[in-house]
Amino acid sequence: MYYQKVKDAAEFIQRHLPQIPEIAIILGSGLGEFAETIEDKIVLKYSDIPHFPVSTVKGHKGNLIFGNVKGRKVLAFQGRFHLYEGYKVEEVVFGVRVAGLLGVKNLIVTNAAGGISQFLSPGDLMVIKDHINLSGENPAIGEDAQYFGERFFDMTYAYDKETIEKAKDVYKKNGVDYKEGVYAFLKGPSYETPSEIRMLKILGADAVGMSTVPEVIAARQMGIRVFGISCITNMAAGILDKKLSHEEVIEVSKAVEEKFIKIIRDIIEIM
Ligand code: 6GU
Repeated sequence: MYYQKVKDAAEFIQRHLPQIPEIAIILGSGLGEFAETIEDKIVLKYSDIPHFPVSTVKGHKGNLIFGNVKGRKVLAFQGRFHLYEGYKVEEVVFGVRVAGLLGVKNLIVTNAAGGISQFLSPGDLMVIKDHINLSGENPAIGEDAQYFGERFFDMTYAYDKETIEKAKDVYKKNGVDYKEGVYAFLKGPSYETPSEIRMLKILGADAVGMSTVPEVIAARQMGIRVFGISCITNMAAGILDKKLSHEEVIEVSKAVEEKFIKIIRDIIEIM
């Protein structure tokens, strides 16, 4: 049973850690190098953790990294699972479920996203103030999910207001333009059509991507405080008169990585 699997994984991890981490962080595209800035690391391979999903894609990292960032105990997920890879939603949120059972109280989520709003440009780091789940999936569905929290739970302040307020100062201190917006979640893996992007704009979305929302829902069910940032790697379809390319997504996320890491480290310090 799923709950038992999560418990097994949590117990294994707990045996390998000296303390309960204060903050978990899911490293999206463009934050892989963040792991190198963690001090006094303990690295566990996903493949060594009982029942932990593993990526079949070659070159995809799958590490759970415990250590110190600015005096805080963090647990970083280097390598995440997406619905478009064929994982089930309960596999996508496995790590968050484990973190919750370990007693982790804070979660930082990061991703790459396409910009829809006119206020966004490639290279921006958009603080996620809310999301729109258009996937038709929800990790809290089912009998087992009830072990992790309430059947019906609030999503009003899914993205912690206090941390968002503090993030504004972090951006200012680092000389980074503060942007915030609503993240729309679709399964992918095709990027959207221009008409779909016009629809998303009408619905109130500022950015669009293929991750993060399942993890946030699972975290909120468990009472974990959430903060999220989308790295805007490109404008969504039809916003500019050009095609989208995965190469551009990778290129921009690399170019922004240093700035992104600085911001995330400072958020960890104050969250
Ligand atoms: Cl334009 N769409 C989606 N769904 N994901 C993205 C993206 C766009 N750009 C980066 N990731």
